[in-house]
Amino acid sequence: MIDPFGRSISYLRVSVTDRCDFRCVYCMAEDMTFLPKADLLSLEELDRLCSAFVRMGVRKLRLTGGEPLVRRGIMTLIDGLGRHLKTGALDELTLTTNGSQLEKYADGLAAAGVKRINVSLDTLDSDKFTELTRWGKLDKVMAGLKAAKAAGLQVKINAVALRGVNDMEFDDLIAWCGDEGFDLVFIEVMPMGEIGEEARIDQYLPLSMARSQIQRKWTLEETDYKTGGPARYYTVAETGRRLGFITPLTHNFCESCNRVRLTCTGTLYMCLGQNDAADLRAPLRASESDALLEDAIRGAIARKPKGHDFIIDRRHAPAAVPRHMSVTGG
Ligand code: 5AD
Ligand code: SF4
Repeated sequence: MIDPFGRSISYLRVSVTDRCDFRCVYCMAEDMTFLPKADLLSLEELDRLCSAFVRMGVRKLRLTGGEPLVRRGIMTLIDGLGRHLKTGALDELTLTTNGSQLEKYADGLAAAGVKRINVSLDTLDSDKFTELTRWGKLDKVMAGLKAAKAAGLQVKINAVALRGVNDMEFDDLIAWCGDEGFDLVFIEVMPMGEIGEEARIDQYLPLSMARSQIQRKWTLEETDYKTGGPARYYTVAETGRRLGFITPLTHNFCESCNRVRLTCTGTLYMCLGQNDAADLRAPLRASESDALLEDAIRGAIARKPKGHDFIIDRRHAPAAVPRHMSVTGG
């Protein structure tokens, strides 16, 4: 699948549920309205959709949410998708999770062929963690990380950089990831969805600034390591671990974008930061053959926009896109 800008689309991210057992302040409002359960694709339909993408050239699948591991029966889907790894049709099956259920699922994930996972963790301070996630318990996530390590999963920590909240902890996070053998990625907060009183402008911390601060203490060696995602990676000489930066606002990464995003109701978003979308549920349900579905997918890829236009400043206070990250997944 090649889009109008010559980019090959080989990466599908699937939000298997927009629900979550946390309410991170930068991600969700306190009282969220979720997609109606009746609109959800079944696990079988999700498998059929993912498999169509794999047949059409997707080499990497990431399940996200919301929190993917709170979707009932999720291991059935993951086990099923694992078959594409065995045949070699898929290079990688992976997951972005908040870690709350990992203790229970780590072994099963490894058995299904998952090799690497991203775990979202913004702070190592348990009070702050509960404040940030509103509902989360740090102990639970730490137990999940331990289980992931024991199962042999490679872990990458995703930390959203939040001014005045965790910017004083960057050094601690780098050192801790070094000790644990985890890679670490800092992410700039993106203007997605209304999040209530917590003003995004106050949360936003440009990572160009954070990087100079980090470089006062750590030696960052340039690398050309790529995971298929938008992060730019360095190696921290002191720990030997990778440190990445995802900077949608200070450095637009769209020119190398290789991905599209599917929601749990079968809507395909061709860009995280644009509103144009294609409904794949109707063609999926219209017939047992995948011909209509494949047409709809091809039509969508042909409309993939050049990029997002995220801006965070006082003149652009409302969110750039109305949907929350939990709808399309990270
Ligand atoms: N901006 C940046 N990152 C976000 N995430 C959730 N909402 C936002 C936002 N508005 C992150 C989560 C997780 C990943 C899926 O996206 O922390 O790491
Ligand atoms: Fe849940 Fe992740 Fe959003 Fe936090 S950032 S509320 S863990 S989906």
